[in-house]
Order: sequence, then C-alpha cells, then structure tokens
Amino acid sequence: MGKILLVNGPNLNLLGRREPKHYGSKTLSEIEDIVKKEAKQLNMDVVTFQSNHEGEIIDFIQDNALIADGIIINPGAFTHYSYAIYDALKATSLPILEVHLSNIFAREEFRTHSLISPIAKGVISGLGYKGYLYALNYLSGLLDL
Ligand code: DQA
Repeated sequence: MGKILLVNGPNLNLLGRREPKHYGSKTLSEIEDIVKKEAKQLNMDVVTFQSNHEGEIIDFIQDNALIADGIIINPGAFTHYSYAIYDALKATSLPILEVHLSNIFAREEFRTHSLISPIAKGVISGLGYKGYLYALNYLSGLLDL
C-alpha cells in the first residue's frame, strides 16, 4: 500500500471561512476526509498534516519522508518565500505534487512565483479541493499502486 503525505501550510486551517471566493467552502478536515476516502479506493494510505509554522512542517517532512512514497503539499504563503521548505522537500527525493486551491497566476504578483515548483513533479493551481484528488490519482498511476 502506497503511503502519501498530505501537507498543508499556514492559514489553511481556516478553510471554510477564509476567503471562500478563492478557497471554496469546504473545511480542511472535510477535504482531508474526501482525499482519504479516494485514497482507500486507490489502495493508498494518506497521512495528513497542517501547520502554521515553518519548522513544524520541516520536522514533519523529515520525520515521515522515509516511510512515504510521495508528497502532496499546499505550502500556503510559504510557497513564495520558504527556502527551508524547498530544501526539506528536495532532500526527500520523493515525487512532489504542489497544489493550490486558487489560481496563483491570476492573483497578486507575489503569488505568481513559487520556490517549490522547480522541484515538483507537477503543479495544480486553481481547481479548488479537487486539485488534491487529481494529485493523488496522478501519484497512484506514477507509483503503479
Ligand atoms: C494558496 C495560495 C497562496 O498564495 C496563499 O498564500 C495560500 C493558499 C492556495 O491554496 O491557493 O495560503 O496556496
């Protein structure tokens, strides 16, 4: 059974009530449940984690990468400036799928640049919570699970 880490960064704990126009109306725990359900169908196991703190995200990646087959990450605003999360992801050598609920290319200028994209297998941006499901399905095919 393939094991996938689903990591969400700062302010994503507020999903459901944070700018629904950009991020939709589902809460993070609703989205995590939907992804876990899909994972079961695909014979995959998803470990979820959210933190508002850069160091905690790095610790989680370091502590879990060795037992994982891939990472789906929405780094939130860290996308745009965290070299430390970039380094932590790069060190895993795992396939990384970068997901954004909103279309980061259609918003403020600072959001259009991602530090993570160059080391991601792919980027899904603007497709709402379904982006996580598309990422999971992609990993399922990639890992041939
Ligand atoms: C986000 C986009 C980021 O620019 C923002 O800081 C977020 C969420 C998204 O999912 O669209 O927190 O990653």
